[in-house]
Amino acid sequence: MVKKKPDYAELIKAGEIPQHVAIIMDGNGRWAKKRLMPRTMGHRAGMSTLKQIVKACDDIGIKALTVFAFSTENWKRPGEEVNFLMNLLVEYLHKELLELHENQVRIRMLGDHATLPSECRTEIERALSLTKDNQGLRFNIALNYGARREVLDAVLALSRKLQAGELQEEDINETLFSSLLYTHDLPDPDLLIRTAGEMRISNFMLWQIAYTELWVTESLWPDFTTDEFCKAIWDYQQRERRFGGLNSSPGQDEDYA
Ligand code: FPP
Repeated sequence: MVKKKPDYAELIKAGEIPQHVAIIMDGNGRWAKKRLMPRTMGHRAGMSTLKQIVKACDDIGIKALTVFAFSTENWKRPGEEVNFLMNLLVEYLHKELLELHENQVRIRMLGDHATLPSECRTEIERALSLTKDNQGLRFNIALNYGARREVLDAVLALSRKLQAGELQEEDINETLFSSLLYTHDLPDPDLLIRTAGEMRISNFMLWQIAYTELWVTESLWPDFTTDEFCKAIWDYQQRERRFGGLNSSPGQDEDYA
């Protein structure tokens, strides 16, 4: 007898939906290579997956989605690929912005944008200002983002506040430090998904993922489906989060042993 595939989209309705999901969208290049296509075609296919996953987040009721689109280290790639990725972001925002806005999606960029091509900055500014008051999904695109740089930026901001006398050493704690990160008004991710099988974090949200559940799939990002996304959420729902304590409530156990 053929066993029926579980309907994860249905199953997850009974469990707790993660508030914030982060994704390392990896494997575009390998997807293209398998098809004897240029790597850029993998990124284009990856853009279609992204559209579907943003829609799924909205449908499922996830409050925040953060995707890693371009790292501070990705500048090391050939200029042609870098240009393609920048243009793809412009194309994505150009084509999707109105629909995202209609669906109350609030777009945020995480990372350093000052050094991006001007067309990119213009499109980003348009997206941020149009969606800034939206109350739906918080959609964060990490672009020219590196977690170490984010932490260093926070340290520099902290040091400036100390020097200006706006803060005293005894004011410094985890909550204050979090408030200086790019993600200051977002909860930490509950779930981090990485596609294409690599078991590493690649300089992504190092501070914020201290107690995040990790979920890695061999699927390459362009092959990642809404069904698999729901399976990741279902797996997440089966886990017991203890935050270093003995029960599953964050903050009840201050000793993160
Ligand atoms: C990693 O795959 C992926 C990236 C560096 C870029 C991610 C971009 C997209 C998914 C395109 C859509 C995004 C936006 C915001 C428009 P890789 O190239 O490292 O793959 P590989 O490890 O197989 O070579």
